[in-house]
Amino acid sequence: MTGTVAQNTKILPGANYYDLRIEIQDNNFDAFPGQFVHISCGPGFTLRRPLSICEAEGNMLRVCYEVRGRGTEYLSKLAPGDKIDTLPPAGRGFKIREGGRALLVGGGIGIYPLLWCAKLYGSRADAMLGFRSKSLVHLDDEFARCCATVGVITDDRGFVTQLAEESVCRAAEQGKLYSVIHACGPKPMLQGIAELAERFGIDCEVSLEERMACGVGACMGCVCKTRDTGDFAYKRVCADGPVFDAREVIWQ
Ligand SMILES: Cc1cc2nc3c(=O)[nH]c(=O)nc-3n(C[C@H](O)[C@H](O)[C@H](O)COP(=O)(O)OP(=O)(O)OC[C@H]3O[C@@H](n4cnc5c(N)ncnc54)[C@H](O)[C@@H]3O)c2cc1C
Ligand code: FES
Repeated sequence: MTGTVAQNTKILPGANYYDLRIEIQDNNFDAFPGQFVHISCGPGFTLRRPLSICEAEGNMLRVCYEVRGRGTEYLSKLAPGDKIDTLPPAGRGFKIREGGRALLVGGGIGIYPLLWCAKLYGSRADAMLGFRSKSLVHLDDEFARCCATVGVITDDRGFVTQLAEESVCRAAEQGKLYSVIHACGPKPMLQGIAELAERFGIDCEVSLEERMACGVGACMGCVCKTRDTGDFAYKRVCADGPVFDAREVIWQ
């Protein structure tokens, strides 16, 4: 898929987060929240880089990213009008529920795929967002525009798992338990959320992050360990995920 950069702007002045909007040339693509695009980072790169889809509308695709290494550094230099090469939206995304309330839990760059969920759920969702420090808090205003409640926590005050637990306990007391939790972030956070969901009997979907090579399910370079009828199996994060039922994942 070829696209043209429509916007590529820094989200916060003091941090390396970018908001990239790509106008896709052929608008015959389907995308779902929780899927990712595998983007080429220039001629010198054999491997593409996976980025979660933050939003898609018409032929406009939005991703947000943090500059971490050479690939994302290359992306940060792209200007409006530049061409960009990406594979079509891939992977298994979040299952958006028609009814009931949802809790969205995101840590760091894990908040990005949840933004589209937030927009689809609207006031049926609460969002709990965790960041390393106050100066890195971003996109919380966009979540606040659609969700019923948005909680933000930074590492100096605690972890987002605590906020999520408080929300679930409050919802249980009010007799309005969530029907689903969607979560994306670092593995220990996801494990904590999976345990919380299990404790309260809430369905939970987690989006896993593994380094990827082919990105299309061919190389087994991105596997994670999952439960499989009394035993375990390795599943590919790029093709069988990145979103998994939390009960399926073996955390280790
Ligand atoms: C399904 C999926 C969705 C993702 N969505 C987003 C997103 O929406 N926004 C975003 O900013 N990033 C996202 N990532 C992570 C992103 O793909 C990596 O940050 C990116 O590939 C780094 O490339 P680079 O060339 O800049 O860095 P490299 O030079 O390749 O690496 C720089 C540093 O980042 C670490 N790193 C690289 N890839 C990963 C990874 N997958 N997991 C953990 N650490 C990694 C390396 O260990 C190294 O320390 C996603 C990853 C996956 C698997
Ligand atoms: S990256 Fe090749 S199978 Fe997932």
